[in-house]
Parts: sequence; structure tokens; C-alpha cells
Amino acid sequence: MSTDALRTRAAALDERHQATDLRERFALPDGVVYLDGNSLGALPRAVVGAVSDAVEVQWGRDLITSWNTHGWWDTPRRVGDRLGRLVGAAAGQVVVGDSTSVRLHQALHAAAALRSDRRVVLADPATFPTDLYVLDGVARQVGWIVEHVTPDEAPARLAGSQDVAAVVYSHVDYRTGRLWDLPTVTRAAHDAGALAVWDLCHSAGAVPIGLDEHRVDLAMGCGYKYLNGGPGAPAFLYVAAEHHDGFANIVPGWHGHAEPFAMSGGYRPAAGIDRARIGTPPMLSMIALEAALSAFDGVDIAAVRERSLSLTAFLRECIDVLVPGTAYASPDDESRGSQVAVRHPDAYGVVQALIARGVVGDFRTPDIVRLGVAAPYLTHADMLTAADHLAHVLAADEHLDPAFTTRNAVT
Ligand SMILES: Cc1ncc(COP(=O)(O)O)c(C=O)c1O
Repeated sequence: MSTDALRTRAAALDERHQATDLRERFALPDGVVYLDGNSLGALPRAVVGAVSDAVEVQWGRDLITSWNTHGWWDTPRRVGDRLGRLVGAAAGQVVVGDSTSVRLHQALHAAAALRSDRRVVLADPATFPTDLYVLDGVARQVGWIVEHVTPDEAPARLAGSQDVAAVVYSHVDYRTGRLWDLPTVTRAAHDAGALAVWDLCHSAGAVPIGLDEHRVDLAMGCGYKYLNGGPGAPAFLYVAAEHHDGFANIVPGWHGHAEPFAMSGGYRPAAGIDRARIGTPPMLSMIALEAALSAFDGVDIAAVRERSLSLTAFLRECIDVLVPGTAYASPDDESRGSQVAVRHPDAYGVVQALIARGVVGDFRTPDIVRLGVAAPYLTHADMLTAADHLAHVLAADEHLDPAFTTRNAVT
């Protein structure tokens, strides 16, 4: 197929997926194909006015009264409920604030308390490092033994076992983009009397998750990737309603107290998800995240996923035509999250050369060119543009230019 034929196909696909093209809801620079929304989501237009109002009116004019008059106090739960729609959680089970690492730490301690008679926890050795670091830290504190078992091996390990307290998995592998089978692994955990704890960083806002439907016990994720909450956006924690009464908060801060303003000496947990709160939330970031979530208003996450699958399939098709022989780390079927991961021995240089051409993806060690596809603001035409630039980079050996191979970037 020629580039012209791909262009015609891109136009037809964009026409077909017109209803889920939410580009107008985002402010993106001209001339950039942004394929790093799985690291830092783009800026939703609604955030600009919301943050400006939060600074000038709420903070600047209304000062401390804003905790009540602008609903600041309730933000962690209110934003949690709004976010819950995107991850398949009914109201009252999601709280927003702090980082994914902190929320994971909290969830793991709660899981240990809920399964205090068990000692083993299963985790994927290839998961995002913070998950392993936090898990190892909690394991030292509670006496857990961490077994490295991949999500697809977990059902066999769990079958007939009675020693596993919890499985702790990332829904989508951050490097390969592999979407793990959350329903099957969760069911296998429950059949063995274990809890299922999921890190949703790479699926929230991109993939239907169905936390309630699949009876996930605990889950967390960040607000700054596909949810577009901005740099360092607050994370979220899901605690299934059935665990609220047994949820022991390892960081029992005053915002999770039953009567925070009683200022009493002893901690009494609030009812429901409020007991998972910790301390004062970063209000400007909470307001930014809340406004960012409005970019999903009126859109079902299943429709976002449909668009994403079409975009990633087409990106791969374009790469296959324009850069024959490309190797991939990401799956070719529906077990693919919202990214295409290309393997290349000079992946770092390839990513830098692409960025210089306005195609912004990122590098993940050792050899991955990670092309994140945040469906709401990307088009099939963008996919072709990205593949075309990749072909030009490789054809001209731009990726070998010392300007692009010197490693000085953070990401
Ligand atoms: C799967 C996963 N978990 C956790 C994190 C980061 O956690 P935190 O928000 O605490 O930095 C990331 C960041 O990319 C991630 O990909």
C-alpha cells in the first residue's frame, strides 16, 4: 500500500470515528503529534479556566472560606465519584489525592490487615519499579513473602492454594503495552481466598476496567496520564464497598477522621471511603484534575477504547507499510493497551530524532520506542504522520546523530 492509499484510509477511518474525536476539548501545540499521553496527558481546555478561577477567585478572593463555599473539603470524594465512572466504580468507593506510590502503600497495608492469616503476595517482576519498591517495603513491614509470578501465570499458581494474601498487578504493562486479563486473574485470586489489587495507571481513561463488575478489591492509579490531570496530578484509590469497614488506613491522617474538627486525641475512622483520606489535598491540582475529567463528559469509556484500538491498529499498519520488518513489544491483538511499543536497538536516538520532528513519544529501557495513543485527542491522520516521520528518521539514520544519542533527558 502506498502512502497515498494510507492517507485515504486515514481519512475514511477518521470519518468513521468522528463521534469520539474530542480534539477540540484539548489545547495542543500546532505541528506536534503527541504520543506521550501515557506519561503526561495533554492539557484539557477546561483546566485553564478552572485553575485560573481557583487561583484568582477561590484562593485570591474567598480565601479560607473556600473550604466550604467552593466545596474544597469534599473534593477528594467528589472528584473520586467523577473518576469512578471511568473505571467502573459506583459512587462512594474512590478517593483522590496523594501519589500512586502512597496509595499503593496504603492499599497493600490494608490488604495485609484484611488477610492477616496469609503470608504470600504475587507480583509481576516486570511491573513499574515503584510498585516493586513499595511492595518490598510493605513486605518487610508486614512479613509478606513476595513471589514473582506474571499475571498470566497467576491463575495456575493460585489454583488450590491457601497461602496467598493478595495479587498485585498492573493492568497494562508500562513498557510493552500488554493489557492483562483483569477479570480472570481477579476471579482466580478470589477462588483462592486472596485479594486482587490492581494498578490502573496505564488503563484509567483508556480502557474499560469494570472494577465493580469484576469485584476488584483495591485499585489505584495516577491522574496525570490518560486522565489528563496535569503534571503531578493527584492519584486515586478504589476500595470496594465490601471492604470499607475492614479498611485499616496505615496513614490515619485527620482528613480521614470521623470528626476531623473535633480535634480529639484519638483516631476514629470516618465511615465509607472517607476513611482512606489522609491529609490536606493539593487543592489547585485537585481542581485541575476535576476540570480535566470533564473532557470525558458524554463519552463512554468503551467508545474511547474502540477509537484507541482503531488508532493503534492503524499506527501499526502504517509502520508495517513504511518501515517493513519493524519489531514490536506490544501485542497485535486486543490484549494491547493504548500504546504501540516498537523495539529498536537505538531506541533512545530514534525517540529523540522523532521529537525533533514534532512526534513526541518516549524511550523505555532497554530498546523500546513507546508510542502512547491517547485516543480522545489523536486521529488516524496523526498515526500516519508519526509512522511517516519514523520512516524518514530511520532512512536518513537521524537516530545515530550524536545530538540524539547523548542521554541527557529525564524521561
Ligand atoms: C504502572 C505505574 N505505577 C506507578 C507509577 C508512578 O507512581 P507515582 O505517581 O507515585 O509516581 C507509574 C508511572 O509512570 C506507572 O506507570
